[in-house]
Amino acid sequence: MEIFPVTEKKTRVEDESELVFGTLFTDRMFVMDYEAGRGWHSPRIVPYGPFSLDPACSVLHYAQEIFEGLKVFRRPDGSLATFRPRDNFERFNRSAARMCMPELNVDFVLDAFKELVRLEADWVPHSFGTSLYVRPTMIAVDPYLGVRPSNKYLFYIILSPVGPYYKNGFSPVKILISDEYVRSAPGGTGEAKTGGNYAASLKASMEATELGYDQVLWLDAVERKYIEEVGSMNICFLYDGKVVTSPLKGTILDGITRRSILTLVREMGLQVEERALSVDEILEGVASGRLKEAFGTGTAAVVSPVGQFTYRDRTVTIGDGNMGELTGKLYETLTGIQYGKIADPHGWVEMI
Ligand SMILES: Cc1ncc(COP(=O)(O)O)c(C=O)c1O
Repeated sequence: MEIFPVTEKKTRVEDESELVFGTLFTDRMFVMDYEAGRGWHSPRIVPYGPFSLDPACSVLHYAQEIFEGLKVFRRPDGSLATFRPRDNFERFNRSAARMCMPELNVDFVLDAFKELVRLEADWVPHSFGTSLYVRPTMIAVDPYLGVRPSNKYLFYIILSPVGPYYKNGFSPVKILISDEYVRSAPGGTGEAKTGGNYAASLKASMEATELGYDQVLWLDAVERKYIEEVGSMNICFLYDGKVVTSPLKGTILDGITRRSILTLVREMGLQVEERALSVDEILEGVASGRLKEAFGTGTAAVVSPVGQFTYRDRTVTIGDGNMGELTGKLYETLTGIQYGKIADPHGWVEMI
């Protein structure tokens, strides 16, 4: 792999408490090209910067694009840890298959990702709760206006030092349950991490933000009744003492944090139910006290307590509106494993 020199270094954020999500990028990026008949070629680490793209290229017209999101954590001893990175690249390949894009050699890109992070190691912030967010992306770059899978692709990895995903850190979020818009339908692309899913969600998010909510919770597209997931998180409920979450049926993202949390929940001796949960059950559960906690799970959002749900003209507060006991314990356990404060019996952590 060729490594090109960086001539101009970027300005950093001096005060890590000012880090926000996704605005600052490091000095280098990994890039690789694909051509039908030739396969992936020319892997390289180059200075971070704009691409030159033909205005006709397919990603700009038909959104043939996929991405991933994972993190690198700096531990108190200075070492760098990453969390289940293979799972991210395997999911990337599943997204690629759904979007008719070429798959990657997972071992090769894992090595490239680690090499890039080693070169950019001094960009990984130090404070607990901060991290280096990693964004692998693939775009279709054939300059052709016909609707068909591209013959050329660009794969790249960019890095961004980040603080908390939500502007108010880990305080409980207010969620609007959308009865107007849907995110994904059976047979659609909901399970793939592809840009179009997010573009399609913007209108609902924008309207929710204007009304003072932090996120939108999506209902299923068929009956408009069952909980699916939140903007960038899967969602779990502590209901009748069990952790209930939506099943993976192709319309939601198979979250890596979701997977990890469900394992931790089972190890804490609680039962997990992956089943359809209706919005009525949520409202009734809060009223009767059967629903004690709700939290979102995601790489960016970690474990994020939900304080309130609003559906049509009803707003319900979960528990006393603060972070619940289980949510707090799961947050501590997951981040403890990631930052090396507690043991990692599952082998989820890979050191860089
Ligand atoms: C739509 C959606 N659901 C769920 C998640 C959580 O997935 P993960 O835990 O793998 O980050 C994300 C975030 O990446 C997402 O964008």
